[in-house]
Amino acid sequence: MNTHQPTPDRIMHLANGYWATGILGAAAGHSLFTHLEAGADTADELATRAGISVRGAQTLLDGLVGLGLVEMHDGRYRNTAEATTYLVEGKPTSLSEFATLKMTHMGALVDLPEVVRTGGPVRNAAVEVADNPHWEKVVTAIAAQSTPVTAIVAELLGLADAGEVSILDLGGGSGIFSATWLGLNPAARATQLDWAPINAIARRLVAERGVADRFTCIDGDFHRVEVETAAYDVVVYSHVAHQEGPEDNTTLFAKVRGALRPGGTLVVCDYVVDDDRSGPSFPLIFAAEMLLKSKRGGTWRRADYQAWLAKAGFEDVTFHSTRSPTTVVLAR
Ligand SMILES: C[S@@+](CC[C@H](N)C(=O)[O-])C[C@H]1O[C@@H](n2cnc3c(N)ncnc32)[C@H](O)[C@@H]1O
Repeated sequence: MNTHQPTPDRIMHLANGYWATGILGAAAGHSLFTHLEAGADTADELATRAGISVRGAQTLLDGLVGLGLVEMHDGRYRNTAEATTYLVEGKPTSLSEFATLKMTHMGALVDLPEVVRTGGPVRNAAVEVADNPHWEKVVTAIAAQSTPVTAIVAELLGLADAGEVSILDLGGGSGIFSATWLGLNPAARATQLDWAPINAIARRLVAERGVADRFTCIDGDFHRVEVETAAYDVVVYSHVAHQEGPEDNTTLFAKVRGALRPGGTLVVCDYVVDDDRSGPSFPLIFAAEMLLKSKRGGTWRRADYQAWLAKAGFEDVTFHSTRSPTTVVLAR
């Protein structure tokens, strides 16, 4: 038999990809990974702790073993190392809320053929509009993705020992960058520019971390609100570039260039595509999400960032990988 013959296996998995989203989302929503971590290791025990049926618990366990998120040894179940790190609730890296949220986004994909035909969102699905309730659900769910990135950037910029630095976070969402960095550096101050309801969410996280006295919010549209000139040492633009088109990104980069003090750094975090569009996989696929939800967004190439940043007046641009789908771009 020719072992190089293609098999239908991968395409069957891809065509049924919503099973993975559903099983992962339902398991996270019923805290299965958290119960497994706490020692519940049979379908009966998990059913009791999660308040679900035994049949349902067994089906989720079978699915999770199939997806490689749970292992079975001698009839007892346990989380894989990946599930322990990223799906147990209460950990700063937990993607459990994100997995639960993404299940609710599945239905929107039926619009994709029409969206592809027209070239943009249909049925008012664009998210880059004022005070969109979409963000209230998203920002806390995605905070865990930025947690490791905040540590990497702090290290790259030496923020812990930088003394009295002033930080501006454009579209800061949950406030995760400010919360982490203000915790690391007791002399730092941070300002977040985002919509009012989102800033309220950020204030809660920053207060929980005990650093609210050095955190300020500006409510409004970052396209329109004026920012103070030469006032900040670090400006953050994290997971925002993909919702904006080339022109808006260039304009916003020029705006933050003016907001930076001499020697200051712009930190862009996003899903960056290789110049020849051959990878990486996550940024290439994520572009479909932006086609569905934004009028001009997409996932942009390194060359795009380089061109826009140069146009905006930045001279020194470096790219840093993060062992996650996010790339950090530092511009000075
Ligand atoms: C994908 S979230 C990123 C949140 C955060 N920076 C992070 O990386 O976790 C995008 C954020 O930008 C904010 N945003 C989007 N458009 C905006 C606008 N025109 N003005 C102000 N904030 C905006 C949203 O409210 C949301 O908090």
